[in-house]
Amino acid sequence: MARGTIQICSECGYQTAQWLGQCPGCEAWNTLVEERIPAARGTEGRRGGGAADGRGRRSAAANGAGPKVAPRLLSEVGSAPVERMETGIGELDRVLGGGLVPGSLVLLGGSPGIGKSTLTNMVLGNLAEAGRRTLYVSGEESAEQVRLRAERLVLNPTRPTPTNHALRVPILAETDLETVLGTMAGEAPEVCVIDSVQTLNAAELSGAPGSVGQVREVAGRIMEIAKARQIAVILVGHVTKDGALAGPRVLEHLVDCVLQFEGERERPYRELRALKNRFGSTNEAGLFEMRQGGLVEVLDASARFVAEATRAPGSVVLAAMEGSRPLLVEVQALVAPSELEQPRRVVSGLDRNRLALVLAILGRHGRVGTGGADVFVNVVGGVRVDEPGVDLAVALAVASASRGVALRGTPRACFGELGLTGELRWVGHPERRLAEAAKHGLQGVIAPAGSGGGACEVGTLREALKAALPAGERDRRPLTVIG
Ligand code: TYD
Ligand code: MG
Repeated sequence: MARGTIQICSECGYQTAQWLGQCPGCEAWNTLVEERIPAARGTEGRRGGGAADGRGRRSAAANGAGPKVAPRLLSEVGSAPVERMETGIGELDRVLGGGLVPGSLVLLGGSPGIGKSTLTNMVLGNLAEAGRRTLYVSGEESAEQVRLRAERLVLNPTRPTPTNHALRVPILAETDLETVLGTMAGEAPEVCVIDSVQTLNAAELSGAPGSVGQVREVAGRIMEIAKARQIAVILVGHVTKDGALAGPRVLEHLVDCVLQFEGERERPYRELRALKNRFGSTNEAGLFEMRQGGLVEVLDASARFVAEATRAPGSVVLAAMEGSRPLLVEVQALVAPSELEQPRRVVSGLDRNRLALVLAILGRHGRVGTGGADVFVNVVGGVRVDEPGVDLAVALAVASASRGVALRGTPRACFGELGLTGELRWVGHPERRLAEAAKHGLQGVIAPAGSGGGACEVGTLREALKAALPAGERDRRPLTVIG
């Protein structure tokens, strides 16, 4: 182990000099994380080792011997307007809440190859052109590799003579944390990208770059300099297969904003969401398309998805809400006889548990049984829908696929949440959803009661099925239909 570091349990705070698989304090496994010894506190314990010292401090505080500060009323606290730096990428600015805030830390997570480096390259290029001082720190790729990417980018294709100002960004290809901090201090950029936080190495910790201790140390030190010098920093981070930010879960509470870049690598659409945002809403999502010249904002997503919708059996258009913005997406389902003891349930673009719930409600209250069938549900285009309004679309798509008939009166859309007793529940912003559907020529939108605006209002799943599917087709597919 490196000198000047200790192992601290991330569960209970127990400290030990040596790494152990199991924490002697709380008996949790793999929770000891290497950390620098805080300079001011020396080697005294938090809860483990030097308990006597800690106790002494506590009693001093209890006696009122600690320093006193007069708290202020919130109404007396000045609220300076937050300055924002627009990145020139509208969808990103919207998700950030208006642009990058000086001195703030943004964590941008996403799986490899999704386009994090491309997005951050474009951001810095735009800001450099706007006259801001920028710095791109690449721990992952060499300067030459970053240049090759930057050469491919077309930042403002609409201009008569598009200049590639992505090449005007200063780059530092470095993995040593001290060198990076020194350069940041020397160059004093207004905006800095660290690509990625998992590749930087704090020499005083012996853990490998990317380990929890390293990532926490790297982010903590970068945050110090960002706050002190008012640098807006974008930390790029990888995510694991199950979608969590790898290692740096610990970073989520440290940074001001956590952005998640999602999508399927093979598909062109990419979605940017805010999971946490101290300077704006977490409801917003931005949609991009990966093209030859980099990421392009998709502003007319509904029009595209509606035009691409197949309207075949198993296809339903959902009027969804992406934050404060309505979005029409196609939900497709396939129901096929299963050879397996435990039939498959495969989803893409929505929560797997949500499908299980909808299938149970369909079976119990809609008389559409899928017990012996494999069920596949996909939100087309690689978009992810994370809102309760998706239930009805999934139910209608599965019922339509199971019966082998297309929805009646297409083109139409639907939305609504399913309750466990088979009722259709009201969901937020029905008027915006209906307006979006009308704008794209979809009529007779099946919606919960109280949605208004000319919707085809229904109170239960059974009524929705009746309104959506043609009568008399019920027993065509006896395999998957009970009643
Ligand atoms: P990249 O930004 O390197 O991903 P990440 O940093 O998240 O790992 O982008 C990776 C993919 O994007 C790569 O497979 C190539 C593709 N790409 C384009 O299709 N067009 C482009 O203009 C650029 C720069 C990349
Ligand atoms: Mg990258």
